[in-house]
Amino acid sequence: MRILLYRGDGVVEPWVREFEGVMPQVEAVTWKEGQVLPPCDYAVLWNPALGLLEQLAQVKAIFLMGAGVDALLKFGEALPDVPLIRLGDAGMGVQMAEYVTHAVLRYFRRFDEYEQQARHGAWNPLPQIPKEEFAVGVMGLGKLGQPVVEAMRHFGFPVRGWSRTPKDIPGVETYAGMEGLDPFLRGTRVLVSMLPLTPDTANLLDRHNLGKLQPGAYLINVSRGAIIAEPDLMTLIRSGHIAGATLDVFRHEPLPAPHPFWNEPRISITPHISALTMRHDAVRQIADKIAALESGQPVDDLVDRSLGY
Ligand code: GLV
Repeated sequence: MRILLYRGDGVVEPWVREFEGVMPQVEAVTWKEGQVLPPCDYAVLWNPALGLLEQLAQVKAIFLMGAGVDALLKFGEALPDVPLIRLGDAGMGVQMAEYVTHAVLRYFRRFDEYEQQARHGAWNPLPQIPKEEFAVGVMGLGKLGQPVVEAMRHFGFPVRGWSRTPKDIPGVETYAGMEGLDPFLRGTRVLVSMLPLTPDTANLLDRHNLGKLQPGAYLINVSRGAIIAEPDLMTLIRSGHIAGATLDVFRHEPLPAPHPFWNEPRISITPHISALTMRHDAVRQIADKIAALESGQPVDDLVDRSLGY
């Protein structure tokens, strides 16, 4: 069996070594622009080039080295008509839970304000925020959203969830679809975006929808930057309606040097690290899925092109 491994950032050698360790029977090949690819059984990719996708019509499936599939689906009709399979949790769920827990607790326990105070030498205990006034609303309740919901429940926050289709999660007030969005947002103090980027979610968090959050709201984005209308967020932060935002993802990455987010102290920025792909876990998962496909079994995490994730 031959498997193509490709990453747009060129860092593919560690993946080759990992595949050789986990699937020693497999020949792992790489590709460079302009090369003709030998026939491959499967492809495992991240941020592929069009010239490569055009050579993948014969593979049995394309696996992604991550959870988000927007960078692949943007090729539309140019994508080969083969199953696309994203990474399931593979070690990312717990990282998401860590990241969001850190951000929520930082705001809830007012560490952001204490950081400012300490810079000015101020010793000034602030009143504790009542937990019932700190409802955390998680948008996107898939494999990565659920560990976040559980972490928030563990700390006793009122937890709300919003998803495209109705979901029943014990202890969580759930809302679905466009008709559920308004009541979901109006009852939310901390909004956590875990949504995939699709035509339906692009710019969903604009001035209109973010304006429905409770006054003094917080925003945490760990999925895709283009879900947020960035100038609208800036306006709402400046007006004080949104008290702070923790952003790991941006419409353009790396976040360009002149972007106003860099100079806004109420915005905390991290460089798309909320859930890194764990290479070993990812390769094990892909190997298991290949074994399932080879024996005619169904696999999880198939991308639905019509839904966009
Ligand atoms: C990272 O952004 C991923 O989609 O896995």
